[in-house]
Amino acid sequence: MTELKDQIDRSKLPNHVAIIMDGNGRWARERGSHRIFGHQNGITAVRETVEGAGELGIKYLTLFAFSKENWCRPKEEINSLMSLMISTINSETETLIKNNVRLLIIGDMQSLPDHIRNKLNEVVDITGSNKGLTLVIALSYGARWEIADAARRIAEDVAEGKIKKDAIDEAAFSEYLVTRHIPDPELLIRTSGEYRISNFLLWQIAYTELYFSPALWPDFRKEHLYTAIIEFQKRERRFGKTSEQLNCD
Ligand code: IPE
Ligand code: IPE
Ligand code: MG
Repeated sequence: MTELKDQIDRSKLPNHVAIIMDGNGRWARERGSHRIFGHQNGITAVRETVEGAGELGIKYLTLFAFSKENWCRPKEEINSLMSLMISTINSETETLIKNNVRLLIIGDMQSLPDHIRNKLNEVVDITGSNKGLTLVIALSYGARWEIADAARRIAEDVAEGKIKKDAIDEAAFSEYLVTRHIPDPELLIRTSGEYRISNFLLWQIAYTELYFSPALWPDFRKEHLYTAIIEFQKRERRFGKTSEQLNCD
């Protein structure tokens, strides 16, 4: 049988794949362990996915690591997640550099503890000129927060005369989002068999293809990514047009 990877049409790769990495807690529970054990084991899946996306030549990979709503989780879980974040960044920076990966962070950076924000900014700077995969980590991110924040800053700029009210169209609005330098994802994957978006990239996924994988995040491997891309490549993206219209210029 043809290898999964060989079934991917390299001329029709999604430029940007976004992933809601879900199911760590359930993975741990199945093993009679604490939720944090699941988060720890999710790191292998992150490594595999970043490597897999880079090898294929995908340009942008966004990983939803921690939502605004996740601040409501038990204090010990949050603390463990933050420690895991720091230790992973520390241990993976060399690999990011070696693999020419550029790191970007989207989210409410002000809500992160100082030492985490500083460390992340440092790695974002160090990898800033890398030309391979752009790895975007969504951290303390919430789409409604992002959209409300954009609206507030537009209002400020209108009041200060920096932008005219009539100039606010979709493109101008996008410039105020945290993703302003990042193209919209063509493919969004959510793991763990949950069929919801959980406040992720609401503006940006207007025409994104959605793919739901039953795999719990710590079990996610390159093959799961390949399967999602193969499925994506079978779909017809119509953007409101008819099939016939897609075939003419
Ligand atoms: C995803 O796994 C990781 C984060 C949200 C930080 P969960 O921790 O949500 O795992 P489940 O959904 O409870 O299994
Ligand atoms: C979404 O997962 C957030 C991340 C994967 C970081 P959640 O586990 O927080 O989502 P819900 O609560 O099941 O919707
Ligand atoms: Mg979850």
